[in-house]
Amino acid sequence: MIELANVSKTYAGKEVRAVDDLTWTVEDGKITGFFGPNGAGKSTTLKMICGVSSIDEGTIRINGHDIATDGIEAKRQFGYVPDDPDRFLRLTGIEYLTFMADVYGTPAEKRAPFIEEYGKRFEIYDALSSRISDYSHGMRQKVHVMGALIHEPSVWILDEPMLGLDPKGAYELKEMMREHAAAGRSVLFSTHVLETADKLCDAVCIIAHGRKLFDGTLEELKAANPGKGLEQIFLEMTANE
Ligand SMILES: Nc1ncnc2c1ncn2[C@@H]1O[C@H](COP(=O)(O)OP(=O)(O)OP(=O)(O)O)[C@@H](O)[C@H]1O
Ligand SMILES: [Mg+2]
Repeated sequence: MIELANVSKTYAGKEVRAVDDLTWTVEDGKITGFFGPNGAGKSTTLKMICGVSSIDEGTIRINGHDIATDGIEAKRQFGYVPDDPDRFLRLTGIEYLTFMADVYGTPAEKRAPFIEEYGKRFEIYDALSSRISDYSHGMRQKVHVMGALIHEPSVWILDEPMLGLDPKGAYELKEMMREHAAAGRSVLFSTHVLETADKLCDAVCIIAHGRKLFDGTLEELKAANPGKGLEQIFLEMTANE
């Protein structure tokens, strides 16, 4: 579970808030989609949840641990896939996964089965001895998803995770998200692909200009907008922003 209370942030040198008084709870047992136009504040919010970006006002707790005051324990709770997979390029896939497993203290006996299972599901198992710099965008995305999940975190935080994945990779990731939520854990992801999200999400949060426009279950959103799909609801909701 992730709890945000009155969270705001303004980047240095900017006049408007990137995130403006956001109060929101991401619940366990659900896949939660996070939507908003470009520049709405999604990545900034996810970075604040993960402690990558500082919080100006408000508090964020992950499974009860405050990211600002109890950062190490809070960070044990989640796996985070950032929006940019062009990282750790000089490492091979296996070196990167070993590094992440070391950082999170994943026991040796859990590493190989995880790498084999997820590497094969993502069809990059045979490429793991190559450098990440030699990977395509989608392959980098896949190895970063694996690195974020290798410690089996209860909370998944994925910033546009489907971007650049091939159909099999996107299918497997959606299945993994469903399995994780079905096991009573949290999955939070941002995306612009609302057709996919419409079929995947249990809960949604929509923001624009850093402010929350809606947060609730997909059923509630659709009940309030009868006969419309998520894409149409989103376009109407953000049209006047
Ligand atoms: N490092 C930064 N320094 C200054 N301003 C930033 C920085 N990162 C983001 N911003 C600004 O904060 C606002 C929110 O950006 P953010 O990246 O959170 O949006 P987003 O919803 O993730 O957009 P997208 O859909 O394009 O990924 C934008 O106005 C952006 O210009
Ligand atoms: Mg973003």
